[in-house]
Amino acid sequence: MPEKRPPFIAGNWKMHMTVPETRMLLEKILEAGPELGSAEIVVIPPFTSLGEAARILAASSIALGAQNLFWEDKGAFTGEISGPLLRDIGCRYVVVGHSERRQIFGETDGTVNRRVRAALRSDLKPIVCVGETFEERDGGQTLPRVRTQFEGALEGISHEDVRKIVLAYEPVWAIGTGRTATPGQAEDVHAELRQKFEEMYGKEAAACAIILYGGSVKPANSFSLFREKNIDGFLVGGASLEAETFIPIVKEAMKAYKEVE
Ligand code: PGA
Repeated sequence: MPEKRPPFIAGNWKMHMTVPETRMLLEKILEAGPELGSAEIVVIPPFTSLGEAARILAASSIALGAQNLFWEDKGAFTGEISGPLLRDIGCRYVVVGHSERRQIFGETDGTVNRRVRAALRSDLKPIVCVGETFEERDGGQTLPRVRTQFEGALEGISHEDVRKIVLAYEPVWAIGTGRTATPGQAEDVHAELRQKFEEMYGKEAAACAIILYGGSVKPANSFSLFREKNIDGFLVGGASLEAETFIPIVKEAMKAYKEVE
């Protein structure tokens, strides 16, 4: 059984937040810092706010992430952003294979794998997203679907590199819909994913793996989700845009952590 570690909570701001809005939100999060205990917090602003966020967070323990990267390190790729550029601006994490990228921008397990490799090459920790659609869940395909996505994303990744990967289970039907997976539904998939880690990389790597849940996480469900054995934290979308909802999510998860610790 994996030991419970302090909650890892990442806020994915998607295509929101101007530079002044970024400043205001981060200042509020920093102010709350002492109340957030040992939680590991990552903020993931749009590219245009990364520079300002890096400056504001420089002296803090809050880490910075980006929402996507291209698989080449440099070159004539108009409109793309590379691992070295993200690293240069102060990112430590990067989201790869979010369902919005898969569904709207044609991301496949193959391109997810190329981006994971690019992130690792640039010393960025990929937050790799997997998750089934409503039809897949309805058709009893949830576990095969996430297993395939897991294998595709991690193909060829070494035992050493896999330790830098954070996995996020985000059922597509729960993202931005207000319909959260129940703690039991989420735990079933998390347990399966940890099992996949064990099959491919052994017991110790599986025990160390960070597996986040994402999809309509809010203050009211953070406690009960985090109490589940295999849920190590959250990837939060909508509720990460305001300190008034993001901070209570962290606090509720910390409460659950202290209970099971
Ligand atoms: P949501 O988004 O919290 O708004 O459902 C989660 C995500 O897309 O990562």
